[in-house]
Amino acid sequence: MALDMDFVRGEFPALKNEWTFMDNAGGSQILKGCVDKISEYYYSHNVQLGGSYDVSQNSLKAFGEGRANIATLFNAARPEEIVFGPSTTVLLQFLSKAMLSQFKAGDEVIVTITDHESNIGPWVWLEDRGVNIKFWPMNKETYELELDALDAIMTEKTKLVAFTHVSNLLGTINNVKEITKFVHDRGALVCVDAVAYAPHRAIDVQDWNVDFYALSLYKTYGPHHAALYCRYDHMEELDSLYHYFYDKTKIPAKMEPGNANYELSYASGAIVDYLVTLGEKAGSKGTRREKLEAAFQDITEQENILCEKVLSYLRKRNDCNVLGINDGTSPRRVPTIAFTIEGKDPQQVCIAMDKYKVAVRFGDFHARRLSDSLGITDQNGAVRISLTHYNTVEEVDKLLSALDEVLAK
Ligand SMILES: Cc1ncc(COP(=O)(O)O)c(C=O)c1O
Repeated sequence: MALDMDFVRGEFPALKNEWTFMDNAGGSQILKGCVDKISEYYYSHNVQLGGSYDVSQNSLKAFGEGRANIATLFNAARPEEIVFGPSTTVLLQFLSKAMLSQFKAGDEVIVTITDHESNIGPWVWLEDRGVNIKFWPMNKETYELELDALDAIMTEKTKLVAFTHVSNLLGTINNVKEITKFVHDRGALVCVDAVAYAPHRAIDVQDWNVDFYALSLYKTYGPHHAALYCRYDHMEELDSLYHYFYDKTKIPAKMEPGNANYELSYASGAIVDYLVTLGEKAGSKGTRREKLEAAFQDITEQENILCEKVLSYLRKRNDCNVLGINDGTSPRRVPTIAFTIEGKDPQQVCIAMDKYKVAVRFGDFHARRLSDSLGITDQNGAVRISLTHYNTVEEVDKLLSALDEVLAK
């Protein structure tokens, strides 16, 4: 096994808890480095930014350091392309508001049936402006978003396609680079929800040439905070959400109205510090970014072992229907595994699992339109086991033996 699991688990003090955490797509555990940085900010830098005195100058530096680190996480060309906010939901609502003046009646925006509502609702609001909203349907046999289906609904009036990098129910990795090129070739922009992707694989907004790309740091080992990448030329076009004297040129402050959460922005940088250390342990001697990429290779290896272990168990049962790809070694999958069980209520299954101190979750996970289209909303959705690299083989063994007992009842 490539990852040094003692080191990894030591970086997440909360894993000493008696619970086995397998609801990581709901929120991961936080790195000790992030908590330390929050304390450090409060105890050493907690004054308003922009003052002439050195404590204030240092606060500004800390805030900037957080942004620069998160730019490395995205592989953004410059830190000003990163907008901080309280959640992905809020950031995407901000984005749609800041783009209002770019839309006119008759324009089209395409959203997908597989997205979390965060990347659907803010675009549906544009209907008030006379924008037509179209849904990119999913192939119900394969649970895939196919380019042919997108081609069938795109027109010269399509201005934006909003889609998910990974569905938080299906776990399938969409080919962002390919979809983005397809959309750009037809003259539209993309807005990608990367919340369910970011904890598992390296992001490269420059290679993929995406326009807007959002993720939640609290699901990526950090604090309750989120980040939105806006490619610089698009950032320049966004309307200001701040006071009138923060005009369009105030980048990215115009997208962060009010005082940003400085301590969480600074603390989020420890996510990148951690990934860099993992990359060093993997033998990388390159730049911070190269080390981060090496870390994600080891993370992928660990996750695939765990994912395939769970999926091979579910495949052997003939009462479980896995939503999404059921091969855990597939390069197109992350270990977010949702399934339904014949004759079992997902809520009751999860409540029964609580007794074994294995934290899993049921529901539609706010991918309500997907769950409606699968016809599972009224049956408490699906059971979701969402793993991450700090989970161990022993934990998965515990999960499977608990599940075996629960499903036998
Ligand atoms: C895929 C996906 N997108 C968006 C969100 C919303 O994130 P936030 O809680 O940061 O608004 C979630 C949260 O579960 C999610 O799983």
